[in-house]
Amino acid sequence: MIAMDGELRRDTPTDPGEMLMIYQKFIDIFKDLASTFDLDTILRKIIHTAKDLTSAEAASILLYDEPNQGLHFAAMTNASKEALLHTMVVPKESLAGWVATNRESVIVEDVHQDKRWFTNVSKKIDFPTRNIIAVPMITQNTLIGVLEVLNKSSGTFDLQDQGFLELLGSQAAVAINNTRLFQQSDLISELVHELRTPLGSMSTVAYLLQRPGLSDDQRLSLAQTIQQETERLNQMASDYLDFARLESGRIFFRATTFNLADLLAECIEIVRSKIDHENQTLMIDIEPQLSSIEADREKIKQVILNFLSNAIKYNSRHGRIEVKAHNLGKNQVQVSFTDTGIGMSPDDLQHLFERFFRSSNAVAVADGTGLGLSICKQIIEAHGGSIRVNSEVNLGSTFTMLLPTTLS
Ligand SMILES: Nc1ncnc2c1ncn2[C@@H]1O[C@H](COP(=O)(O)OP(=O)(O)OP(=O)(O)O)[C@@H](O)[C@H]1O
Ligand SMILES: [Mg+2]
Repeated sequence: MIAMDGELRRDTPTDPGEMLMIYQKFIDIFKDLASTFDLDTILRKIIHTAKDLTSAEAASILLYDEPNQGLHFAAMTNASKEALLHTMVVPKESLAGWVATNRESVIVEDVHQDKRWFTNVSKKIDFPTRNIIAVPMITQNTLIGVLEVLNKSSGTFDLQDQGFLELLGSQAAVAINNTRLFQQSDLISELVHELRTPLGSMSTVAYLLQRPGLSDDQRLSLAQTIQQETERLNQMASDYLDFARLESGRIFFRATTFNLADLLAECIEIVRSKIDHENQTLMIDIEPQLSSIEADREKIKQVILNFLSNAIKYNSRHGRIEVKAHNLGKNQVQVSFTDTGIGMSPDDLQHLFERFFRSSNAVAVADGTGLGLSICKQIIEAHGGSIRVNSEVNLGSTFTMLLPTTLS
């Protein structure tokens, strides 16, 4: 698929070396998308990459306009921005609209045979369309828009083209979303700083991968490093978005009254295999009459899972974890998570809830983004609760959350 000079070709990749190069090409694309926060630049990068990747004659992006519940052309390879400005496409009347409504990709070999295609769009953008792939751009379950490629330069689009476009579309959604967020947020420089480390290491590994004479094992290990760093970047991006949404009040809490003991049991089940894998011991002490609470169940679950994941990650092998939950009077519950792990110094404790904070002993033992506790604090405080911490280096830590049983 990718020639040695970096140009894209259309034949189907078969050997692992070629796959590795495609993978690397995508890493470069993702890195490139992460290199700017200017929306127009990102949109241009996306459409030109989409066009090249699929050997299409043109590519376009339609962004979802939530207040108007419509899609509008935001960028197209063969049209000026001005020409697109007034072209609004209503979801029900176009193929892109179908893709947006159904959140599903579509390949259409002949647009004139497909009922979902309406020629008025084709006329409006003055581009006679023969065939098309359209993929939804979704991140965090939010529709950002639709990415389309039009007219395969020879033959018709295939599933591989669709796969490439979906991969690009998902990263494009993240990039567009991040850009919007960054435009609004004063946390920009902080995140950029944090992204430099994983991006720097990916770039180094990508450079090393290009050296001739590497053994299969060496290649595999380098590719695995890239994959781990990509996953960490993804995690960091989604945690960061969570955090920024919480901070800007754009997260909508869905409160219900639910059984907290059941939720704790559910979370413990999720992490149990990890605990077993680390040969750690789990002790559970949950008051039988533990009150139900009124809260956003999914958000509280996220908090509990982060406390549990920290207790496992920053514990020792064969360490102990204790989960306790009790009523505090009539209107409060107290849940604590204790481990016998690396602990924290008084100095670490002072920075514990800062975004991206990770103690040096934590960095040495486990991966993480340092955003989990900032998110937990926001969620708990939004529910009118609080978090307390006790910790001693090399002895362990206890995180205690207090939650009101009803929202005021
Ligand atoms: N149980 C614990 N024992 C020791 N240190 C802890 C514990 N929990 C948190 N910490 C310290 O607080 C830091 C921040 O925790 P936080 O959960 O915010 O991030 P993380 O676990 O590093 O990454 P992630 O975003 O994946 O949760 C950790 O990196 C670690 O230094
Ligand atoms: Mg964590």
